[in-house]
Amino acid sequence: MTTIDPWGAVKIDNYSKLFDEFGISRFDELLVKIKNPHRYMRRNVIFGHRSYESVLDAMLSGKPFAAMSGFMPSGQVHLGHKMVMEEIIWHQQQGGDAFLAIADMEAHSVRGKSWKECDTLGKDYILSAFALGFEPGEHGHIYFQSKSAQVKDLSFELGIKTNFSELSAIYGFNGETNIAHMVSAVTQSADILQPQLKEFGGPKPVVIPVGADQDPHIRLTRGLADKMNMFHVFPGPPRHPNFKGMINIYSKSPTSDTMKTENEFNILKNRLLQEKIVSKAGIKFDDTEDSMNCYTGHIEIACIKSSPEELLPKVQESTRAVALELGGYAFMPPASTYHKFMTGLYGGKMSSSVPDSFIGLTEEPQAGAKKVMHAMTGGRVTLQEQQKLGGEPEKCSVYELLLFHLVDDDNELVEVYKDCEGGTRVCGNCKKYAAGLMEEFLRCHQKKRELAKEKLAGLGF
Ligand code: TRP
Ligand code: SF4
Repeated sequence: MTTIDPWGAVKIDNYSKLFDEFGISRFDELLVKIKNPHRYMRRNVIFGHRSYESVLDAMLSGKPFAAMSGFMPSGQVHLGHKMVMEEIIWHQQQGGDAFLAIADMEAHSVRGKSWKECDTLGKDYILSAFALGFEPGEHGHIYFQSKSAQVKDLSFELGIKTNFSELSAIYGFNGETNIAHMVSAVTQSADILQPQLKEFGGPKPVVIPVGADQDPHIRLTRGLADKMNMFHVFPGPPRHPNFKGMINIYSKSPTSDTMKTENEFNILKNRLLQEKIVSKAGIKFDDTEDSMNCYTGHIEIACIKSSPEELLPKVQESTRAVALELGGYAFMPPASTYHKFMTGLYGGKMSSSVPDSFIGLTEEPQAGAKKVMHAMTGGRVTLQEQQKLGGEPEKCSVYELLLFHLVDDDNELVEVYKDCEGGTRVCGNCKKYAAGLMEEFLRCHQKKRELAKEKLAGLGF
């Protein structure tokens, strides 16, 4: 089995494995439903997702949703971070709440960065997020992990439901792993679930846009969301020929003593609970009266007039509301999208530990342009050969820069691709063009960063 390691440097060249082995769904199937798809969506840079439908449905029906991501302040902000920031910002512009965590606890414990460095580097990330369009305020939350009591409290709670075996299976932790590293793993899950707390108007669909190597975090957190919840709702087969199906509600969480012990009082309590759930879900009593069965361990709703598919979302929603009323958790599993990685400018992986492999957002514009001029292309050895055989844009890091960052117009990009393949575009000119765009982008971005300093000061970090 393939393992993907978020802290390592594994290159994922076979994305299709992710669909088959890890249960990630294809993103392109959702594209028709999205109103103003982001460039990465249109261009298949975002290629996969987990339960993104939940976010999309909320977006389309004007219901609350959020997007969140975290950045480890361990090096320079670069084009890879820009990708994630853009994805968060796009969701904010579609009406969602945006959350941005500076993962200073992780940088401190895993990368050995001092708190001072975390502070300085973290602010650099924030300035770029502002420059790219992140709007702080009621719908835009930015925080340092170490300064968020809420995230730290939640991570402690999540720690109750996380054990060492699970972490070592996911991350390869062993007896040598320091405890703070493990804490930073549950802290990241707390980052992801925080937008769903009552304080932020949760529960609600939240998407975490990540690179595919971050999927283990997502799986851990989806599992945790479920384990934390007071109630678990799932459909089952009909228990009577007149029924279309059943919806079962179990309570497994030790945070709740509801539905636990076998006595009349509890059955009565469960009956009240059930009535509450059913009435909140807007299910008419006569839909269900034959079958409002209450047991000591669970309650069930028989679907007589409606199908379980029809009732399930309503029951899930009302069960969540009841859990919240009772002081329990009611998280939805966080959704995720997965984007492809950019290759390094000289081939290989783009990595913050290899400064020449990436372009930093705070780099001198001219130096950035120069890197483009020296980047690896998909060109042939000689000009003659290039004209005869055409270039190979799919192997070209310059083309990738145009695709990921520098060209907004899809038609223009198609032209570049065709001309390159057809041999009419030569690398020298093409690189000059891309270098010019890069210089322009960096200059403009850095100007916006300057202007954003006021916003940063306003946050009072
Ligand atoms: N672990 C991520 C990294 O290595 C940073 C991170 C912290 C994060 N909290 C998060 C990412 C929440 C996504 C969601 O960069
Ligand atoms: Fe890359 Fe441009 Fe050369 Fe094609 S012409 S290989 S896109 S640099």
